[in-house]
Order: sequence, then C-alpha cells, then structure tokens
Amino acid sequence: MCDEQVNRCECVHKTFEQLKAFSTLEAAQEATGCGLECEGCLPYVKLMFASGETAFELDDPRLAEYQ
Ligand code: FES
Repeated sequence: MCDEQVNRCECVHKTFEQLKAFSTLEAAQEATGCGLECEGCLPYVKLMFASGETAFELDDPRLAEYQ
C-alpha cells in the first residue's frame, strides 16, 4: 500500500475498512467518533461511504463534493 494514501481516521485509530462495517456515516461517528476530532478525514470518510472504496489519494478529485 502506498504511504500517500488516506485509509484511516488517525484521531480514533480506525481504518476505513473498519468504519465501512457501519451502515452510515452517522452510525460510524456515533460508535467511534470518527471524523469528529480534527475533521481532517471527514471528506474521505464521506467518500468512503459513497464509493465503497477504503483508500484514497490525498487529492482525489471526488473530494470536492464532500468538503
Ligand atoms: S483524522 Fe479523523 S477526525 Fe482526525
């Protein structure tokens, strides 16, 4: 795996693979707090739920829709 890829919420130490087990962003946030601390991962977590993918380029162009 390329180090440049974003594949986790660093603040709560959960990978997107783990977060994907939740049915919705809201459920994942309630259970883990992901995306609620620095919020740096939030666009990526939203894109993860939208796309089903679990690793992203830092500058994935689809992120513009999930800021
Ligand atoms: S990396 Fe997810 S809230 Fe900070």
